[in-house]
Amino acid sequence: MNQAPTLPQESALRIDKQRVADTFGKAARTYDAAATLQQRVAARARLGLPELGDHAAILDMGCGTGKETIALRNRYPDADITGLDLSDGMLAYARDRKELDGCHWIVGDIEELPFEPEDFDLVFSSLAIQWCESLSEVLAQVYRVLKPGGWFVFSTLAEGSLYELEKAWQAVDSKPHVNSYEAFECQKRRVATSEFQTCSLRQQTETLYYPSVMHLLREMKSLGANTVVGSEVSGLSGRRTLKSLSEGYASFSSERGLPASYQVIYGVLRKSAS
Ligand SMILES: C[S@@+](CC[C@H](N)C(=O)[O-])C[C@H]1O[C@@H](n2cnc3c(N)ncnc32)[C@H](O)[C@@H]1O
Repeated sequence: MNQAPTLPQESALRIDKQRVADTFGKAARTYDAAATLQQRVAARARLGLPELGDHAAILDMGCGTGKETIALRNRYPDADITGLDLSDGMLAYARDRKELDGCHWIVGDIEELPFEPEDFDLVFSSLAIQWCESLSEVLAQVYRVLKPGGWFVFSTLAEGSLYELEKAWQAVDSKPHVNSYEAFECQKRRVATSEFQTCSLRQQTETLYYPSVMHLLREMKSLGANTVVGSEVSGLSGRRTLKSLSEGYASFSSERGLPASYQVIYGVLRKSAS
């Protein structure tokens, strides 16, 4: 009889969440203008949104500046919407948006959701849960706060994201400069072993192109996405390092510029109705 291989332990790396929150907070004012990938991914994730009844309760988990929360509000105009984020800097920005008057804002951690069981009809989360230590814990937390029949619609990253940048850094030194993520197959098995029913779960490559490595690194800084978990390194470097990095990246160069590819997972999960 074929036995399913055991799931590997989740990363032993502890995430310095205060550092993640501070870095995103500092980027709150520059985030939206730099968030090309994030907006493209959120738009695709929204394709999985379900029909909901009147006055549904919705949580946008890792809502950042609230730009994507606006899209939720437009889609469900009479819903009661809560935005949660680790970064009070990001939330302060979201709270100031006129389009989001009447939403609730909570500083909190996705891995310790500060809500009662069965509070929400829908939990949405785009490109935030890759900053968590344990996908299994995220799934357990979301399951707990969903009502029976509730939905979890999300996007996150998988292994292979920013592999060109990772390879280019290997030409410079052997320190970690790029965050690593679990392979799609592994994340899929974590979902399969959760209590959720899977409606859809797929991976898609998203590639952006840049005129130079400096443009890519600057954009990551503007997004606040430059924390490298488990490393002091956080992005921009000296001129000599940048020259070696550019040389390392040059082998990926194409007519459109330097590619930065992301392996994005899109999921729609449901808590059973009974
Ligand atoms: C790349 S931004 C995405 C923001 C928004 N969802 C969007 O699509 O534009 C990631 C956000 O997740 C937040 N975040 C990271 N780890 C978190 C955690 N453990 N709990 C709550 N929010 C977290 C960050 O502070 C940041 O605002």
